[in-house]
Amino acid sequence: MQFQGPQMLEFQEKGDERGHLIVCEGGQDVPFDIKRIFYIYGSAPGIARGQHANRETEFVIINVAGSSKVKVEDGKGNEAVFTLNRPRTGVYIPRMIWKEMYDFSENSVLLCLASEHYKPDEYIRNYEDFLRIVREGDSEV
Ligand code: TYD
Repeated sequence: MQFQGPQMLEFQEKGDERGHLIVCEGGQDVPFDIKRIFYIYGSAPGIARGQHANRETEFVIINVAGSSKVKVEDGKGNEAVFTLNRPRTGVYIPRMIWKEMYDFSENSVLLCLASEHYKPDEYIRNYEDFLRIVREGDSEV
């Protein structure tokens, strides 16, 4: 499986008559070892979150309940919108991708799996800086 750009992942469902079970194993179902998880809930439909790119961290995000959308762009003119509305699908987001999550349903619980521990310095939160860094191939802000 190639993981060169943002893409939808489909996880295997191991449900039985007792209910559903989805497994995300680091390095197997997601293309990195998982060092951090966090989850986002209680965001109103009009709210946009994210709006940043990460120099070091890769993510897989999964709406384990409810739905949301994620818009991704690489700063080179390529963008895509993914709808997350099933617990068995996730979106893989590589490093240096500008992302925005929005259109949260009232019951949305967005689970985020991350390849790195939280380090505020590796977040690029200014869109113009992001475009400049992509354009210049510059690793310094
Ligand atoms: P933020 O990055 O703005 O959330 P999102 O991009 O998902 O909308 O983070 C919100 C706050 O939480 C901010 O003060 C930083 C803090 N935070 C951590 O301390 N650790 C983490 O792993 C994350 C994702 C955020």
